[in-house]
Amino acid sequence: MKKKVYLGTNTKMYKGIADTVVYLEELCRLTADISREALELFIIPSFTALESARRCAPEALVRLGAQNMGWEEQGPYTGEISPRMLREVGVSIVELGHSERRHVLGETDDMINRKVLCAEQQGLTILLCVGETAEEKARGLADEVLRTQLKAGLFGVDPRGTERLWVAYEPVWAIGENGVPASSAYAGERHATLRRTLIELYGPEGGSRVPLLYGGSVHQGNAVELSREAEIDGLFIGRSAWDARNFAAIIREVLAAG
Ligand code: PGA
Repeated sequence: MKKKVYLGTNTKMYKGIADTVVYLEELCRLTADISREALELFIIPSFTALESARRCAPEALVRLGAQNMGWEEQGPYTGEISPRMLREVGVSIVELGHSERRHVLGETDDMINRKVLCAEQQGLTILLCVGETAEEKARGLADEVLRTQLKAGLFGVDPRGTERLWVAYEPVWAIGENGVPASSAYAGERHATLRRTLIELYGPEGGSRVPLLYGGSVHQGNAVELSREAEIDGLFIGRSAWDARNFAAIIREVLAAG
C-alpha cells in the first residue's frame, strides 16, 4: 500500500473569516474526488476563522489545526487559547514552535515543550516545527540544532504519544518572501537526522511512525522532487498554498508522482 502523503498549510496572519471560507470551499471542491486514504490534507487558519472553517469544510476532507496554543487547560493567561477551546471548535491539530513563534515572538524550547505536553494530554495531534537559522547552518550546526529542538521540545512525551505527533522541518532561512528553498538533497539529509533522533528517543516503532514534513518556500516547481526524498512524508506549504487552485495543483502532482 502506498504511504499516506501529508499536505497542509498555515495561513499565518493573513486570511480572515470570509477569505478562509472562500478558500476552504474552493479547496474542498477541487480536491473532493481525491481519496483521503492517500492524502492527509490539513489547514491551519487564524483563530478567529476556525469555527467558520469547521462549518464549511467537512472533517473527512480537511483536518483543521491551530497556529499556537497555551500550555494549560485553563487559568489566568490573558490572551492565550486553551486546548479545550480549540477542541470545542473542532480543531484536532496544533502547530507548535513555528519559526515565527520562536524567532519573532520569542518562544523558547521550554515553552514549546510545555505546550507539547499539554497538547498530548488533551489528545490533540501535535505538529512540532523545528529548523536552524542561516547562521547556525553556516556554522555547521544544523543537525545539532534539530536534535536539540526535537529532544527539548519532546521532553517527557512517552512513546505512545508519537501516535499523534508530526514533525515539520522548516529551516528558518527557507521561509517566507526572502527565503531560499532547501534543495531536496539537503532537506533529505536533515530529515534523516530527525528520523534517527526520533528512533533514538522512541525506538524503531514509535520513531518511525512520526510523519516528517518539509516546509519553507515549497512551490509547484520543487514540491514533487522534495516529496520523493525517502524521509519526507509530506509538505507544509505557506504562500504557494494560499491560492486554492495552486494548492490543488500541487496536491495532484505530488500524489501522481508518489
Ligand atoms: P512559505 O512558508 O512556504 O511561504 O515559505 C512556510 C511556512 O512558514 O511554514
